[in-house]
Amino acid sequence: MTARINRMQGDSRDLYLALGPFWGRCDLERELGGPLRNRPDKLWFVAVESGRAVGFVGLHREARGAILTHLYVVPERRGQGICDALLGAWLEVAGDDPAHVVANESSLPLLTARGFTEVRRRGRFHVLERRP
Ligand SMILES: CC(C)(COP(=O)(O)OP(=O)(O)OC[C@H]1O[C@@H](n2cnc3c(N)ncnc32)[C@H](O)[C@@H]1OP(=O)(O)O)[C@@H](O)C(=O)NCCC(=O)NCCS
Repeated sequence: MTARINRMQGDSRDLYLALGPFWGRCDLERELGGPLRNRPDKLWFVAVESGRAVGFVGLHREARGAILTHLYVVPERRGQGICDALLGAWLEVAGDDPAHVVANESSLPLLTARGFTEVRRRGRFHVLERRP
């Protein structure tokens, strides 16, 4: 089944209905390296299959450009291109803005394939940028 990528604003009811089941989950925080954090001006890309969220990623803007956060796909749907579809949708909206992400080891290949390059390390995380 192909996931549909929906855009949801941080202050929308739809977002909490879609991502509510993921909020406060320890397993997810362990994998992401921190809790899910929202803000009204954050745009979320949510991969939905049969009415259920199976992955997501956030975008908000700072003076330095577009910031990518909370890239996640549910374990049972990994390795099937959902992350790459989320990144494609994210990059369409980021457009020509410089893009920034603090990433872990597992997402590095996908991000570099999408044009991000590592600029430094931060502990076990990698700081990546994409300059169109
Ligand atoms: C990192 C993460 C988001 C990747 O999600 P994913 O949906 O499995 O990623 P994709 O399926 O798009 O790509 C994964 C692999 O599947 C391959 N793939 C892509 N499309 C495919 C398809 N249609 N069929 C089979 N495999 C496919 C990709 O080439 C990629 O190959 P690689 O292992 O050589 O890199 C996911 O593992 C995850 O949520 N991890 C935990 C949270 C995390 O670490 N997030 C990153 C924070 S920075």
